[in-house]
Amino acid sequence: MARRTSDNSTIRVALLGCGNVGLALYELLAEPQNKQALFQRTGLTFEVVGIAVSSLKRKRSDADWFDASLLTTNAAALVVREDVDVVVEVMGGIDETLPLFEKALKSGSSVVSANKALLARHGRALARLAFNHGADLRYEAAVAGAVPILRVLRDALSGEQVTRVMGIVNGTTNFILSLMDHEGVAYGDALAEAQRLGYAEKDPTADVEGYDAASKAAILASLAFDCKVSAAEVSREGITQVSAEDVAFARQLGYAVKLLAIAEVLEGTELSVRVQPTMVPAAHPLASVDGAFNAVFVEGEACGELMLYGRGAGGKPTASAVLGDLVEVARSMHRGGAPDVPLSPRTMVKRPIAQISSAFYLTLDVADQPGVLAKVTEVFGQHGVSIRSMEQVGLGDEARLVFVTHRALEGAMSATIKQLRRLKVVDRVGTLLRVIENGEGNS
Ligand SMILES: NC(=O)c1ccc[n+]([C@@H]2O[C@H](COP(=O)([O-])OP(=O)(O)OC[C@H]3O[C@@H](n4cnc5c(N)ncnc54)[C@H](OP(=O)(O)O)[C@@H]3O)[C@@H](O)[C@H]2O)c1
Repeated sequence: MARRTSDNSTIRVALLGCGNVGLALYELLAEPQNKQALFQRTGLTFEVVGIAVSSLKRKRSDADWFDASLLTTNAAALVVREDVDVVVEVMGGIDETLPLFEKALKSGSSVVSANKALLARHGRALARLAFNHGADLRYEAAVAGAVPILRVLRDALSGEQVTRVMGIVNGTTNFILSLMDHEGVAYGDALAEAQRLGYAEKDPTADVEGYDAASKAAILASLAFDCKVSAAEVSREGITQVSAEDVAFARQLGYAVKLLAIAEVLEGTELSVRVQPTMVPAAHPLASVDGAFNAVFVEGEACGELMLYGRGAGGKPTASAVLGDLVEVARSMHRGGAPDVPLSPRTMVKRPIAQISSAFYLTLDVADQPGVLAKVTEVFGQHGVSIRSMEQVGLGDEARLVFVTHRALEGAMSATIKQLRRLKVVDRVGTLLRVIENGEGNS
């Protein structure tokens, strides 16, 4: 189907979802002052022609601008309506939602979405489908909320050879780690506080185990390196093993602990995409990103280093990013411009995590007796892992050893840990963190 063009300056929007993000977006589009300001800035009028929700019983808003007659539970019928130019998807989900994208794109409507889980899995195929039907697909809000990192990678840095993208892309885990750092509270208490304040879900698994960050890492890698990376291919660790003691040790050593999503080109066409709790030097710009904020640090051959920082979640900040996409799509339609040509993905080989090198932080609880240190350090040596520093902290009859290594392969470190677990003098192998060394990346 040919790309739809608006014959006047009115863009007709089907909104899928009227929750945190959907309602905030509807307010940005329909509240009279917002509507007027948007018209003044863009010369375009946006008219919401239908809003899909799962329940018509739920009370949404008492505001005059809220038109309850637009609500429908039939999203499938809404997305193929003739009077729809753009479908904005802010309802979430994958299996139920993918057919709605496909229907909308096949009928020539452009789609704007905030759905990282769906786009991390199906983004490439959907971009191709959009192009084949003369439609656009935009999803800025899917990564780092209001932070316009995808647009920077896609447009401003389109001629740049990006070498590495490192991001704090999950506000929940950053809030928890910041609280552990600044207040010295345990992981469980910090999580409870995040839940109390609405930063963490009742079931926090997607955030604290790094699944959410892995979806975003996949999207960032795909865009930064023009290749195909799915969330399942991202090596992922969460923050549940990080203790307040680790965070305090890291601070003493001059680092902040952050859950980083890292996507980088290694030699030639090799790529690594991973999500790991990482010690970031205090002087690094990512170290001072606190609370629920997000930031993405980009390194490129010509541009050097740059960082974008802002609110990574919340109804309004996310709606702001969705609105930016909507305006971009609408301007392009109004001009009668062609949609982006999806690039054929470059073939990049994902280097196995065991072959990625990094400096490491590791704690061991050991029996406080002579000869223990020699036994332990011998194991590191057997696997070629060289120790940069070691501190001993007394714990009654036990001692905690805190190691920071020089750069070593993940595989060598795993083998070291496996053998350390077998030593009788080692009571517990504690947290393993990657360490970004001062003045360089961590691979
Ligand atoms: N919230 C954030 O800070 C944030 C940040 C970045 C990205 N996102 C993404 O934005 C999307 C929306 O998030 P949200 O926080 O706004 O979610 P939410 O508050 O749970 O809202 C979801 C909305 O979708 C509707 N819905 C769900 N299933 C539906 C279906 N099958 N048919 C029709 N409507 C359906 C719900 O209807 P009812 O109201 O009737 O239940 C609700 O209005 C998600 O993909 C999320 O990952 C959110």
